[in-house]
Amino acid sequence: MSMSDVLTLLDNGVMVIRFNRPDKKNAITEAMYDMLRESLEQAETDAEIKAVLFTGDAACFTAGNDLRDFMAHPMKDRNAPVLRFLRTAAVFPKPMVAAVNGSAIGIGTTLLLHCDLVVAGEQAVFQMPFVNLGLVPEFASSLLLPRQVGHVKAAEWLLLGNRFSAQEALAAGLINKVVADTDTLEAGRSWAQELAKRPPEAMQAAKRLMKGEGYAEVLKSIDAEAEIFQERLRSKEFATAVASFFQR
Ligand code: COA
Repeated sequence: MSMSDVLTLLDNGVMVIRFNRPDKKNAITEAMYDMLRESLEQAETDAEIKAVLFTGDAACFTAGNDLRDFMAHPMKDRNAPVLRFLRTAAVFPKPMVAAVNGSAIGIGTTLLLHCDLVVAGEQAVFQMPFVNLGLVPEFASSLLLPRQVGHVKAAEWLLLGNRFSAQEALAAGLINKVVADTDTLEAGRSWAQELAKRPPEAMQAAKRLMKGEGYAEVLKSIDAEAEIFQERLRSKEFATAVASFFQR
């Protein structure tokens, strides 16, 4: 783990938050969740920052939670770094954009439910394999995904947990736009910059109107999921799934 596993930079009023652990497919560790949350807290208080852009690298957005880390430090309570990050991101008041190339697994997909605009490269692959791993959906995806794409599609993605393509994500309304892989970052960057140029008070008021009433419900869902998720992390089903992942 190094400080550079999450990179942030300021780009014309946009905080770019980049998953940067390419040798582990940008899998997110506890320390990275702390860095992600601290970056969002900074972005929230700094008036110069008007929007946030999440991205990974050309090959991978993120492979989701680091499974080794989850085995080693299963979350203990509400103050677990991952849960603090989820709550912060879920109610983040400024617009958030994601530019997705490659694999977006687990939280790599559920994070998108909290972003305001999402662009993906045509080769991007999405997956929410929680049940396959003996886990349950997180980040309020059990609430937000059925709402956003309908129960039919949500059941396919959350219960079967198979991979799906950028075109499928677009057709279901999970993401806004699909572009050539080489154009993804620039497309996300340009959207984030545009958002950053709009009047910031109106922008935040509009986002609050769109989401504000729902925040309490989303936070409640994050807590309810986490309670079961924590138990599942200690289950035999999870241990077996993780062992089989690392034994391939
Ligand atoms: N946690 C911990 N390590 C992970 C990881 C994760 N979620 N995802 C990938 N890695 C590690 C691999 O163990 C491997 O490490 P090694 O080089 O030390 O053996 C390295 O990252 C490269 O992964 P690999 O699977 O060889 O790359 P790939 O290109 O064949 O596949 C993925 C990429 C993302 C499709 C695949 O790694 C994957 O499915 N990862 C698990 C995703 C997952 O279940 N996430 C949890 C959701 S809750």
